Amino acid sequence: MKIAVIGTGYVGLVSAVCFAKIGHQVIGIDKIAEKISKLQNNEIPIFEPNLKEALEEVVAQKRISFTTDLAEGIKDAKAIFIAVGTPQDEDGSADLSYVLQACKEIAKFSLEPKLIVTKSTVPAKTGEKIKKLLKDVRADLKFLVASNPEFLREGCALDDFMNPDRIVIGCDDEESKKILSDIYDFFPASKIYYTDIITAELIKYASNSFLATKIAFINEMANLCEKLGANITDLSKAMGQDTRIGEKFLNVGPGFGGSCFPKDIIALVSIANQTNLKLSIVETVIESNKNRIILMVNKIKNALANILSGKKIALLGLAFKANTDDIRYSPAILIAKELLKQNAIISAHDYQAITNSQNALKDFKNIKFYQDPIDAIKDCDLIIIATEWQEYCYLDFDKIKKITNCRKIVDLRNIFNSSDIEKHGFSYHCIGKQINFDQ
Ligand SMILES: NC(=O)c1ccc[n+]([C@@H]2O[C@H](COP(=O)([O-])OP(=O)(O)OC[C@H]3O[C@@H](n4cnc5c(N)ncnc54)[C@H](O)[C@@H]3O)[C@@H](O)[C@H]2O)c1
Repeated sequence: MKIAVIGTGYVGLVSAVCFAKIGHQVIGIDKIAEKISKLQNNEIPIFEPNLKEALEEVVAQKRISFTTDLAEGIKDAKAIFIAVGTPQDEDGSADLSYVLQACKEIAKFSLEPKLIVTKSTVPAKTGEKIKKLLKDVRADLKFLVASNPEFLREGCALDDFMNPDRIVIGCDDEESKKILSDIYDFFPASKIYYTDIITAELIKYASNSFLATKIAFINEMANLCEKLGANITDLSKAMGQDTRIGEKFLNVGPGFGGSCFPKDIIALVSIANQTNLKLSIVETVIESNKNRIILMVNKIKNALANILSGKKIALLGLAFKANTDDIRYSPAILIAKELLKQNAIISAHDYQAITNSQNALKDFKNIKFYQDPIDAIKDCDLIIIATEWQEYCYLDFDKIKKITNCRKIVDLRNIFNSSDIEKHGFSYHCIGKQINFDQ
């Protein structure tokens, strides 16, 4: 089938490539000319494992192309997927301006009715808004509208798309349902979950908010472990073995970040508020996650005898999680800002997120970025692990001891084993394993 995907970011690009992989003819559309020209040269504007190889494969099969020209891009498409951003608006609700703008342009340039599918995360009742907008702009064409929220995770996005736990399709008419079932024909029917548009829209927010709740819960358990002298690793492993609970999203850390959870959970509260409903659990999770940054900064301060001013800190990891260059709402960035405000001097490293971080932290003078973690560590007073890049597990501590007198590590991701670190003569501060009365 001929498909257009509007927005070639983390979701749109992966979706476009995967739709091509499963046999469709795809055009990816973006308004950023630089992104499109890179894609036209088989270059990937983001970091996502295996995406370059997958793109090259579908380009060779002539199944994908890219354009900035929306009118041209949608001309022959039967279905148009919208995968533009839905950032947080000032009042906490999802900013739908990019989605509605894309719909307006589709309505303006379409020569015949099309199926418009929201892949972007949009609040319940956005489908209704889109239907109304299309009718207002082009009363002469009878567009179809559907919802198909995306659940892929950055870092393993291709695998998530190709092997989904479920595909949610929200339709209010049989024709849209038929087109979408043809598009997803490649996947086992048991994976596809059909519902109405409003429910599909809400499933995405409910799922993200539930996962965020799980993270916030285990992080609070880590706080309790520290007070009681219990061990969070054993606790979360034993909890996770209960199949009713499940082991995923029970890893402690500096709080959830990324382009989805922080904004989606706030948007869910906003959706509920509009109906005069209070989601007290979700609101508490937002608060708990916000407090996490302060707790992490206090933990770092404690390791430095409560003095941050003038201390040289090696910050290892800037991305919101490993295997991505995405720093949106990254706890590492939020912690860096707080440390810099308190006059610490940061030497930062990340395997993929340096360019994005340089931009996000450009207003701060006391931070330098390094391509090699060992260079960042040189002469530092403290090493912080802020992102769980696997490569950090293999740091050469014998080498580190030669280039710095620092013997302190704050591991905000619990990637190390305390006895391994202590064996090298370092004091090890991790999460949920030691009593820390100063917090
Ligand atoms: N990133 C994730 O892991 C993830 C996972 C699931 C769902 N989502 C949701 O998917 C949506 C997209 O997220 P993302 O991370 O891919 O965003 P992104 O910012 O990486 O990409 C959005 C792209 O849309 C383009 N765009 C905006 N308006 C346009 C227009 N009118 N015409 C053409 N292009 C336009 C932008 O230039 C940008 O390249 C969001 O709603 C997000 O919540 C994201």
